[in-house]
Amino acid sequence: MSTQETTAPRVAVVTGGSRGIGRETVARLAADGYAVVVGYAGNRDLAEAAVKDVTAAGGRAVAVRADVADEAQVAELFGTAAREFGGVDVVVHAAGRMYLAPIAELDLAELDAMHRTNIRGTFVVARQAARTLRRGGSFIAFSTSVVGLAFPAYGAYSASKGAVEAMTMVLARELRGRDVTVNAVAPGPTATDLFLDGKDEQTVAALAAQPPLERLGTPADIAEVVAFLASPAGHWVNGQVVRANGGIV
Ligand SMILES: NC(=O)c1ccc[n+]([C@@H]2O[C@H](COP(=O)([O-])OP(=O)(O)OC[C@H]3O[C@@H](n4cnc5c(N)ncnc54)[C@H](OP(=O)(O)O)[C@@H]3O)[C@@H](O)[C@H]2O)c1
Repeated sequence: MSTQETTAPRVAVVTGGSRGIGRETVARLAADGYAVVVGYAGNRDLAEAAVKDVTAAGGRAVAVRADVADEAQVAELFGTAAREFGGVDVVVHAAGRMYLAPIAELDLAELDAMHRTNIRGTFVVARQAARTLRRGGSFIAFSTSVVGLAFPAYGAYSASKGAVEAMTMVLARELRGRDVTVNAVAPGPTATDLFLDGKDEQTVAALAAQPPLERLGTPADIAEVVAFLASPAGHWVNGQVVRANGGIV
C-alpha cells in the first residue's frame, strides 16, 4: 500500500444528509476526517448549509441532489464521490420517509410513494454501494425499532423497514471476501422532522416517556452509532440490526 493510500482521507456518501439523522451524521463523519458527499432530495439550501458547516470546520464536503429511487441520480451521487474524492469507503443511507395510517385506511398512492423511497431507494443505493465500496468499507442502512414495537398505524412504514432489514442480512453475506460490513441502525423515536411532523405535544411526550432512559433520541445519539459502525473499531459488527432506542420495548 502506498503512503498516499494510507494517509488519504476516507470518503463517505450520506443520503438524507440535508436534515435530521443524516445531517448530524455528515457533521460527525466530517469531524472524524471523512470527505463527505451530502445527498438530498429537494432541500438544496439545507444540504448546502451542511456542506458549509463542514468546510467552515476545515473539512471537505459537496452536496448532490439525488432521488434515492432514481438509478441515474444515485449513479451521479457515487460518481461525484469518485471524481471529487477518489472513491467511497462508507455509505450511510439515511434518506427515508414515513406515512402513518391504519391499514384499513391506507392511501395506496402514499404507500407506493413511501415504498418507492424506502424499499426501492434502499436497493438502488445498496446496489451502487455493493459495486463501489472499497476494502475496509461499510454500508449502513436505516430500519426502525417500530419493526419490533408494532405500533398501530405504522404497518406500511414498518413493512418498508422490514424489507430493509431483510436486505441488510443478505447483502452482508453477498459481500463475503470484500472486507465490507453491512448493517442497519434501527432508531426509536428521534427528534427530527420525520418523527415530530404531525404529532401533538401529548403524543410526543408519551413516546418520549417510553424508553427507560425517559427521553427522545437525538440525531447525535444515532450519528454516534453510525460513526462507530463506520469506523475500524466497529468493523467486527457485520450483518446486524442495531436497535438504538434508549431501551424502548
Ligand atoms: N426520526 C425517527 O424517529 C426515526 C426512527 C426510526 C427510523 N428512522 C429512519 O432514519 C432515517 C432518517 O430519518 P430522519 O428522522 O432523519 O428523517 P428527516 O429528518 O425527515 O430527513 C429525511 C431526509 O431524507 C431525505 N429524503 C427523503 N426522501 C428522499 C428521496 N426520495 N431521495 C433522497 N433523499 C430523500 C430528505 O431530503 P430533503 O431534505 O431534501 O427532503 C432528508 O434529508 C430514515 O430512514 C427514517 O425512516 C427515523
